[in-house]
Amino acid sequence: MIKEEWKELGYINEPIADDIDIKAEIRKMCEEKNAVILAHYYTKGEIQDIADFVGDSLALAQWAAKTDADIIVMCGVHFMAETDKILCPDKKVLVCDLNAGCSLADSCNADELKAFIDEHPGYKVVSYVNTTAAVKALTDVVVTSSNAKLIVDSFPKDEKLIFGPDHNLGDYINSLTGRQMLLWNGGCHVHGQFSFEKILLLKQENPDAKVLVHPECPKPIQQIADVIGSTANLLNYAIKDDCQKFIVATESGILHKMTKACPDKVFIPAPPETTETMGCQCNECSFMRLNNMQKLYNTLKYEWPEVTVDEEIAKKAILPINRMLEISEQLKN
Ligand code: 13P
Ligand code: SF4
Repeated sequence: MIKEEWKELGYINEPIADDIDIKAEIRKMCEEKNAVILAHYYTKGEIQDIADFVGDSLALAQWAAKTDADIIVMCGVHFMAETDKILCPDKKVLVCDLNAGCSLADSCNADELKAFIDEHPGYKVVSYVNTTAAVKALTDVVVTSSNAKLIVDSFPKDEKLIFGPDHNLGDYINSLTGRQMLLWNGGCHVHGQFSFEKILLLKQENPDAKVLVHPECPKPIQQIADVIGSTANLLNYAIKDDCQKFIVATESGILHKMTKACPDKVFIPAPPETTETMGCQCNECSFMRLNNMQKLYNTLKYEWPEVTVDEEIAKKAILPINRMLEISEQLKN
């Protein structure tokens, strides 16, 4: 029975008895219920460690598309769970906390985007995966930071494109492809907060370090990067490159995986402009950090909160997501 109080909160705040082995119980429930836990690299280390699969936005969507589990628990943010539900309408998609939103997805309202599209007839719409299902339903093709260049390149050179909502990513893809896509002026509150001056200072103090930057960061930060890439690209680069020290300008949760994959290398989180906003460190995503072990345990136990998507919206939104997955197959070759 889901309590009214939990519905108001958007998550289950039931305490867990001290004698419960929470990790063992979570894994047991996954087995009994044929459930899988998917986690983004930005979640807490303990969540990444208990998940069946950890990845970037693209890998999480690819994984959801092929799983035969009955229940998917998405430890990430709401748009990721919506994407899973659109891809797997017959599965139950659960989250730890319905409040785990995304400032970037919030920066693009579907009605406003619709008005913008109407003002620009003849344009195709390319949307970052960090969008609501309603925005995806207005979109021709979805992209992530791992495949945005490949997908934009798949359009004829003279195709007129609208790209949203992340302005920094759109600007970066314009510079890589030589296009002049019309850019939505949205952004992420974490990636927009890194301090150019503090990173420069860190670089001076650590001349042997390479700077890894996510393309959601503003242009000045991109300009001092040794590598620009999605979380998965940055992780792979850090694993393969000979360099022993990296300054990492993306959400600091990725350092968990980097440190595990390369225990002998040094990873320094890039400092934000201010140290605290929205209740957490600025290089931590306050939404991703809403996932925790207690909520995960309760979510599996009560099979709630569940994420649903309006059927009409889902029918439209699946098309640009599938288009993205088809084009992304090339990345595997
Ligand atoms: P990627 O997972 O594509 O690197 O995107 C980062 C992000 O902001 C996810 O919310
Ligand atoms: Fe959204 Fe930024 Fe958090 Fe990613 S890091 S989920 S883009 S708010």
